[in-house]
This record gives sequence, structure tokens and C-alpha cells, in this order.
Amino acid sequence: MSIFQPGELGSLALANRIVMAPLGRARSDVRSRSPLPRVATYYSQRASAGLIVSEATHVSPNSVSRPGGSAIHSAEQVEGWKAVTAAVHAAGGRIFQQLFHLGRKAHPACLPGNALPIAPSAIAAKGEAETPEGVKPFPVPRAVERAEIPALVEEFRQAARNALLAGFDGVEIHAANGYLVDQFLRDGSNRRRDDYGGSVPNRARFLLEIVDALIGVFGPGRIGVRISPHFTLDGIGDSDPAALYAHVAEQLQARGIAYLHLIEPDSIEPARRLAPRLRQLFRGALILAGEFDRASAIRALGQGRADFVAFGRLFIANPDLVERLRREAPLNTPGEATFYSGGDHGYINYPFLAAH
Ligand SMILES: Cc1cc2nc3c(=O)[nH]c(=O)nc-3n(C[C@H](O)[C@H](O)[C@H](O)COP(=O)(O)O)c2cc1C
Repeated sequence: MSIFQPGELGSLALANRIVMAPLGRARSDVRSRSPLPRVATYYSQRASAGLIVSEATHVSPNSVSRPGGSAIHSAEQVEGWKAVTAAVHAAGGRIFQQLFHLGRKAHPACLPGNALPIAPSAIAAKGEAETPEGVKPFPVPRAVERAEIPALVEEFRQAARNALLAGFDGVEIHAANGYLVDQFLRDGSNRRRDDYGGSVPNRARFLLEIVDALIGVFGPGRIGVRISPHFTLDGIGDSDPAALYAHVAEQLQARGIAYLHLIEPDSIEPARRLAPRLRQLFRGALILAGEFDRASAIRALGQGRADFVAFGRLFIANPDLVERLRREAPLNTPGEATFYSGGDHGYINYPFLAAH
């Protein structure tokens, strides 16, 4: 199978097997957290990807990160995103919205009422949050009461309704990289003693309730879930990732969602790779992400290890990445200094290949 071949993803037919990975770029309006016109330009420049997964978008006013992060819980934000999806569709592309809640990776200095962030358990993430007062260590979060959990699921459901109104083709649940859903999944951050903690099925309950809520909005063929079993940077971890993610894969299979989006770079030693097992258990599409280049992407698809490959940083620097990969053309280098700041610079001014 070639990366340039059309592919089916849930109920969508995609032009190729190249996915633009979700990339938070902090270019939205700081006050409203609504995407600015340049966000529509940025995504439409990259619309030749088979699928774009948007930057992680906050589902709640109680999830606030660095200035410029985007959200999807207000009417104003829905209007902003309408312009983005319209621009992508006009350019022939498809776009899912990635939905997330920071959980313990927020800071009181950023949250309404300077509240403590919430998490499954009162265990701080390792590392630092960016706040208006500079970087600060992540605080010990407040463990959510069991009675509060339905309202969190509801925030994801409402965000999905908003994403539908805004014209997105589907939604991806961000269950990766140590954010709230991931914090529930893994036993390093979830020490709850109720039915949302302890056993693998209990820890997966929050994710699966969100999946069910979103299926009610978009139908299963328009839902994806992103996981990162090897991510441990902020101190999150699990005692038995193989068992945890096998259960997740089985349950997603039972629900028939469109895809599983697995961050598993080739640098992970073969004995620790989960993709082969998860692929047996989950029969929807598998998107693989993490440090891919042209050669490794072609290899992964050629060997049938995945159905789609996602590129992150290469899409930041190469709006026409698909064409460049097709032609084996040289690639622009992403500038890390402008990943999360710089306005239009380092965002919508990366050059396209010269027209022939
Ligand atoms: C600037 C930047 C922002 C990112 N934002 C997100 C995000 O919003 N959601 C997410 O799931 N992953 C995010 N990631 C991770 C990427 O989606 C991807 O998994 C990672 O960059 C590895 O892929 P790559 O080697 O192709 O860049 C981000 C990465 C970068 C560099």
C-alpha cells in the first residue's frame, strides 16, 4: 500500500494516507480563545493532507493553558472554527477536531478563580506550566469527586456538538500525552478507589463514556482516539501498558469507531511496540505517529503496520508536504522558536515548492 493511495477512514474517503498530526500552535485570540483568520489560512494551506487533525482544543472554561490556545465551548469559538473548516473544505481537505482537557497539567494562575486544576487523583505532574507570571511547577491537583465526573463527560459531549456545528468532519479524543483522559487511563496518575480507578476497565471507563457520548453526536464512523503508551515525560506511566491498551482497543472495536491514533515512533524497540497487538484487536483504521519521515512512512504502510501515517513537525514547516513527499523534494526545516509564538511568522509563511 502506498502513502499516496486513497484510503477509507470510518465513514470518510480520504485522498491519501498522510495525516497532519494535531499541533497546538497558540495562534488563537488570547481573550476569546477563538481561532483568528490566520488559523484558517494555516490549515487551508495544509489541506492536501488526507486528513488534518486540529490542534488540541479545550472543551471547558476550566481547561486553560498558554495564551493563544484554542477552545470549543462558546458560541464565539464555534463561529471562529466555522471559518477554519470552510477554508479547509474549500481547498478540498478534511478536518477532525481534537478535543482535550488539561486536568492536572493546568495552573491556578491560568484558571478561572485561580482554582486548583482537577485530576483523577491528587498527584502532581512533573514539569512546569507556562503562566502569565512565567513558568511554574505543576501544582498538586484536586482529585475530582465521583459526582463531578458526569459533568466532565458532558463537557466533551457539548464540545462535540459544537464541533459538528462548526463544520468539522469528525472529532478525535485526546487520550494521550498526559492530559485528563490519559490521567484517568494510567495507574501512575489514577489511584482512585471508586469505579473510575483500580482495575483496567475502571480506569478506561472515563474515556469510554466520552467515546459513547461522542458517538451520540457524530456516529462511530467520525470518531478517533489518540493514545501515547510510551509517553512518560511528565511522570505519567502505567504498570502494564500492554493490558491497559489491549482493553481500550477491544472496547473501541466493540463500538466501531473510525480510528485509533497511536503515537509509537520507530525508535521504540520492537519488543515494546504495541501496534501489532492493537491492530489485531482493533479492526478500524490505525494511524501511526511519531518521528516519521518519507522512508519510514512508506515502510510502515508497505509492511501493513498501519493504514495511515501522521506527520507533525514536518507539516509545521511544509504546507505542501504531500507534494514534496510525492516528488521527493527537499523539505523546509521547522523552527522551534516559533512553534508556540510568532503570530503569522513561522506559521503561515513557510514557503511552498516553486510552481513548475
Ligand atoms: C508544536 C507541537 C504541538 C503539538 N501539539 C499537540 C496537540 O495539540 N495534540 C497532540 O495530540 N499532540 C501534539 N503534539 C504531538 C504531535 O502531534 C506528534 O505526535 C509529535 O510531534 C511527533 O510527531 P512528529 O515526529 O511527526 O513531529 C505536538 C507537537 C508539537 C511539536
